[in-house]
Amino acid sequence: MKKFVFVLVILAVMLAACQTTPKELTAGVAIYKFDDTFMTGVRNNIAAEAEGKIKVEIVDSQNAQPTQNDQVDLFVTKGVNVLAINPVDRTAASVIIDKAMAAKIPVVFFNREPLPEDMAKWDKIYYVGAKAEESGTMQGQIAVNYWNSHPEADKNGDGVMQYIMLKGEPGHQDAELRTEFSIKAITDAGIKVEKLAEDTGMWDRVKGQEKMSAFIAAHGDNIEIVFGNNDDMALGAIEALKAAGYFGTGKFMPVVGVYATAPALEALKEGTLLGTVLNDAKNQGRATLLVSYALAKGETPTKESIGYDIVDGKYIWVPYKMILLDNIQDAQ
Ligand code: GAL
Ligand code: CA
Repeated sequence: MKKFVFVLVILAVMLAACQTTPKELTAGVAIYKFDDTFMTGVRNNIAAEAEGKIKVEIVDSQNAQPTQNDQVDLFVTKGVNVLAINPVDRTAASVIIDKAMAAKIPVVFFNREPLPEDMAKWDKIYYVGAKAEESGTMQGQIAVNYWNSHPEADKNGDGVMQYIMLKGEPGHQDAELRTEFSIKAITDAGIKVEKLAEDTGMWDRVKGQEKMSAFIAAHGDNIEIVFGNNDDMALGAIEALKAAGYFGTGKFMPVVGVYATAPALEALKEGTLLGTVLNDAKNQGRATLLVSYALAKGETPTKESIGYDIVDGKYIWVPYKMILLDNIQDAQ
């Protein structure tokens, strides 16, 4: 009898515990690959913002869409409350959307923008990112300001800006639009341009350095300016330029990047990087988490609840900022 009462008491305590502790919410987060400087920044900010709000399970999709699709399947099986996905292939987002819709789990994409037709498939799909055109335009403006205030920048005196473009991953909106809009800002300012070379460095510092070494070998002193779609490639280009005798007491070469990484800010101070554009990992990570958290709770995110404007009911755009030596504190 005593034993029976004891068991009853234990059961009652367990039942009470179940009723008072709400089930912990979980977000399933997939990053296209962990080995990416900017995405590491975004990932760390997602994790930091999640503290005390929601459990986040973050996985590395290792730059393979099939791997990411499997990871999404696993998240669905586990019954996560929301998915936050940095797609490997942004044009393949529909596969993930179909899985999420079938399981009724809202999805927040970030950094790699799905096609508009995919975004329109469901009202529980969001995107957090930055306007790629804006970053390109700012890079172009940095070049224009430099060109107009440094007559010696036109080395061969032909009135044309001879440039090198180190592109990010082809097909990525940031790679395509930074490449296009940086040059557009220059031609819009009435400056003629000539592309000496353009190739992808896949967002990677070492690849950027290799490509730049080859471009220096091929075009040498004809090069008047270098654009990197991100800081890693710009810093790789600076390494190649240093090896070819640039900077320090040698010749100067204007190099422009995007992101404002710690090493890029060091390069700005050292005078090797002319300028960069802040790609705000903190706010992109924070916004991704806050939208995800609202959705996980079954709420519809609003400007009031997350602190970011929501455009067309599904887009959150985090602004870029031009960073030069004289406003370097804006990036820190
Ligand atoms: C871009 C960033 C790149 C790379 C890419 C990954 O916004 O500038 O450096 O991280 O995202 O999707
Ligand atoms: Ca020239």
